[in-house]
Amino acid sequence: MVEEKEITVNVKKYDKEKGEYWKSYKVQADRYTQMTEVLRKIKTEQDPTLSYRASCHMAVCGSCSMKINGEPRLACKTMAFTAINEKNEVNLESMDYYQEVRDLIPDMDTFYDRMYKVEPRLYADQTVISGENDERMTPSEQKEVWKFEECIWCGLCVSACPSVKEDEKFLGPAAHAKGYRFMADGRDTKKEERIGILMDSAWRCTSCYMCYEVCPQDVQPVIAIKKTKAYVDEFPGTTELITMARKHDSTIAESIGESGKIKESKLYLKTFGYVAAMKDMMYMMKEGKIKYAMAKDTDVKNMDEIKKIMGDKK
Ligand code: SF4
Ligand code: SF4
Ligand code: FES
Repeated sequence: MVEEKEITVNVKKYDKEKGEYWKSYKVQADRYTQMTEVLRKIKTEQDPTLSYRASCHMAVCGSCSMKINGEPRLACKTMAFTAINEKNEVNLESMDYYQEVRDLIPDMDTFYDRMYKVEPRLYADQTVISGENDERMTPSEQKEVWKFEECIWCGLCVSACPSVKEDEKFLGPAAHAKGYRFMADGRDTKKEERIGILMDSAWRCTSCYMCYEVCPQDVQPVIAIKKTKAYVDEFPGTTELITMARKHDSTIAESIGESGKIKESKLYLKTFGYVAAMKDMMYMMKEGKIKYAMAKDTDVKNMDEIKKIMGDKK
């Protein structure tokens, strides 16, 4: 006999007339009960108005994204017993960033808009489409894109991303993972166009790694963004951000080539210029953090090895 216990589920409900309000439910659960099962029980046995999305119940369809105890999670991948606190309570809310439609259902339109901007499908060569040729990936080519292929469009990374909230020109982590997945695919015929779509946006990511933390599929969108940035020299023309990015890139190579290290103060000065640096120095002085900027850096001793690794990048 599997032991059951009563848990309290606090749901932040929402509808247009009443706005947001909390409602609590008591549910019997055991150690095999997923949070989607908890929601199904509430809806069928207690409150038919409770609204949420779920379909596959196995972390494949990406529809049951929500905040569980304040953290962006898939409800089907979260077991009730791991979610409850010492008082046997769990809090459920709609994801951050998206407007609620009702209760735990977010409006995902902005997520899909971002995804479609990166043209999320393979555009194969005409000879492949007509059947004249087939074009297979090598195992190493497949390995390069495999992780980014695994996205289930759940939207959790976007809800957790601070840059999405602050910068409307940023495409967001999931779109970047998907965009890179096709940009790095040797069979795709739109590489140049994709670099054009992705590059300026990639430099708007702050590398905070929240998307890495919350992704239930371990897609690691921030890694796709970093890999995209490496194509900066293939971007046609420039933008204000890309001019800065190119300076940033060449200064990193220069700094490592000279000292074996990335010297942060030099990197900052060359990337952002003296005026911005002075302003930030004043701010750091005010906040008592100037000591971090003034920390002395020692050079790496065996520079020959570094130069060998850097090759013609110096
Ligand atoms: S690492 Fe970049 S994409 Fe990921 S959450 Fe942070 S800002 Fe957003
Ligand atoms: S990258 Fe991960 S968190 Fe973001 S939408 Fe895809 S599966 Fe969800
Ligand atoms: S129900 Fe499909 S991912 Fe949770």
